[in-house]
Amino acid sequence: MRLLPSLALAASLLCAPALVGRAAAASAPTPAVMPAAAPAPASSTAATKDAFIDDLIGRMTLEEKIGQLRLISIGADMPQPQLLKELQAGRVGGTFNSVTPADNRPLQQAAVRSRLGVPIFFAYDVVHGHRTVFPISLGLASTWDMDAVERAARVSAIEASADGLDMTFAPMVDISRDPRWGRTSEGFGEDPFLVSQCARATVRGFQGTSPANRDSLMAVVKHFALYGAVEGGRDYNTVDMSPMRMFQDYLPPYRAAIDAGAGGVMIALNSINGVPATSNRWLLRDLLRKQWGFKGLTVSDHGAIDELMRHGVARDGREAAKLAIEAGADMSMHDALYLEQLPGLVKSGAVPVSVVDDAVREVLGAKYDLGLFADPYRRIGHGEQDPPDVDADSRLHRGDARDIARRSLVLLENRNQTLPLKKGGTIAVIGPLADAPIDIMGSWSAAGKAKHSVTLLQGMREALGDRGRVLHARGANLTDDPRVVEYLNFLNWDTPELVQDKRSSGDMIEEAVKAARAADVVVVAVGESRGMSHEASSRTSLALPGEQETLLKALKTTGKPLVVVLMNGRPLTVNWAKDNADAMLETWYAGTEGGHAIADVLFGDYNPSGRLPISFPRSLGQIPTYYNQLRIGRPFTPGKAPNYTSQYFEEPLEPLYPFGYGLSYTDFSVSDITLSGQALQRGGNGHLDASVTVRNTGKRDGEVVLQLYLQDVSASVVRPVKELKDFRKIALKAGESRVVSFPIDEDKLKFFNAQLEYVAEPGDFNVQIGLDAANVRQKTFVLR
Ligand code: BGC
Repeated sequence: MRLLPSLALAASLLCAPALVGRAAAASAPTPAVMPAAAPAPASSTAATKDAFIDDLIGRMTLEEKIGQLRLISIGADMPQPQLLKELQAGRVGGTFNSVTPADNRPLQQAAVRSRLGVPIFFAYDVVHGHRTVFPISLGLASTWDMDAVERAARVSAIEASADGLDMTFAPMVDISRDPRWGRTSEGFGEDPFLVSQCARATVRGFQGTSPANRDSLMAVVKHFALYGAVEGGRDYNTVDMSPMRMFQDYLPPYRAAIDAGAGGVMIALNSINGVPATSNRWLLRDLLRKQWGFKGLTVSDHGAIDELMRHGVARDGREAAKLAIEAGADMSMHDALYLEQLPGLVKSGAVPVSVVDDAVREVLGAKYDLGLFADPYRRIGHGEQDPPDVDADSRLHRGDARDIARRSLVLLENRNQTLPLKKGGTIAVIGPLADAPIDIMGSWSAAGKAKHSVTLLQGMREALGDRGRVLHARGANLTDDPRVVEYLNFLNWDTPELVQDKRSSGDMIEEAVKAARAADVVVVAVGESRGMSHEASSRTSLALPGEQETLLKALKTTGKPLVVVLMNGRPLTVNWAKDNADAMLETWYAGTEGGHAIADVLFGDYNPSGRLPISFPRSLGQIPTYYNQLRIGRPFTPGKAPNYTSQYFEEPLEPLYPFGYGLSYTDFSVSDITLSGQALQRGGNGHLDASVTVRNTGKRDGEVVLQLYLQDVSASVVRPVKELKDFRKIALKAGESRVVSFPIDEDKLKFFNAQLEYVAEPGDFNVQIGLDAANVRQKTFVLR
């Protein structure tokens, strides 16, 4: 949401009250902020920070303290003139949703004119890019390349901080094992290890060497906790989970982000075993602060404190505010309850002022760590530095976007070496997503602009140049259900995003078939609109929506090689395409440079190297299909009679595509595993090396992702069939081979037992190394 241009004018009309010791004129280039000299963050210590904040809190009125706990949604919470008054009265802690320095500057100017001159921070959902849009997080995870993941976050921070932003509500690290959930697209997939790696890399990228840096953003990891496990994949639904599963699988990524230094934590909207996260004292105080030692800011999700009444745990707003602040929700996003209720709660003694002080301390601490006390205009800069055109193409990082996007693409099928395509002849580029500049950005595209997106059609045209001809037909709408169109267009986009082609489905398909007949090869982009894989976009089907599969079938009848390009934010049941397409490429939503990146892969200018960070089910009924399931008493064994084993009798048990899967234009072989020893000693610092020789047996250079899985053969509690514990992405020239070793120490064997102790138990372990979760070599060793 953008601020109205009149805001700047309104701000300039506000006069600055003359306060002792505080910089006066809002027009001064770098107003000093605080009555007390602010220590420079670079040389400051924890003690100087504490002293500074204690002193400040000691001088704040209750109203000013409560003001710090308010996180205001620009455009949604109050009209701008009122916001400016609130800021100047010191009744706002931070804002989110305004994106440019010019928009944010008047807000900061108003804040520093307040009695104590406490600056505000500016936050935004910078999830997978800012001006430059990178692949959605599921795509970033598909790179299995943590340098690439970190780079995407670094560039995002550079761009967002240049727009005056201080903080991002990211990374989103909710493990998601139910693709019905629309927010699957925002996370890094199903696996605790891979998601944790991505969480660390992203925090490193956002925060750089310090959140105080001019080009850093403070990372607010979300949604704490377990939001990805909502029942039935239905957004905002209940989460009910055993403590062992929680600790083993769902909590590690949040912990990883925090250990990497994330300055903030956003609290999830869901309840956890009967207690909403927002009022969950165990979650926010015992686990997060005491057990994990988190020393940062917690932020409620949008309206979540209010929702405590709808959860049915608070009778009224007063109780909701009391529950939330006592549980440890420092900042209240978008709701007015802290402002309305905390004064009375504190004055009546129902909430000790020390509880409010603790929350204020975290808000001020975040601002201190961001360097805002030293300079509130650290990232906003000064008017004369504002870019003349915030949307200028020159502000983008297209090179990084293209490079990272092509690493994120996962080749699912390639029969008879259909790919790479020759640069020549006639190519029919078909499908509702072939020329979809909005959708290719994916949801939560921050300040991304569709006009900057390179669509698949554009990318193919550019790559082919005058060596060949591109024909184009839309072929189908993304959905033909008017209710779905209405629903998706009602999401909070600026403009309706689903623009329907009014022609009949038959007419559109006929046109597409005609183009296909006139071409040498058909490239067809199908999948979901970005709104279908978004917050509040849960689905009851994982099929290609609308008439898209009918379109694929019609194109197949032409006999022309059929290359399916998927654009989607969750695994889809693309069974027909798997069996019938000549080639299929999963591209998720590949971002600003998506069209170039996809063309690079389709024409072989880049050899695909992405791997799935989430399993693809065969059918909706097969969910959950995550690979690291717990072992059971009657497992189904392939090749053996299925009776009285755990399976569905109508279809195979294995997923359509397993976790870790992806093809290349070359082939790789993996040797048997060599172990450097047979046993590991408990309590020692030793390790074993598990090594394989991996060989590029094909004719092209390429990259391979070697994956290390471990299985605890027998333990005090039921353990998963296997768990990813390490991976390595390496480049090999055609014919080249290399020995790859994975060190295995006792730490890798640890798990949470029934008492929730993190232990390794003696006994046998199977070590597996392979190219995906279902394609591994195995050896056994013992922990003594
Ligand atoms: C989402 C959060 C997001 C917030 C602010 C909420 O609806 O759940 O993920 O950070 O809005 O935009």
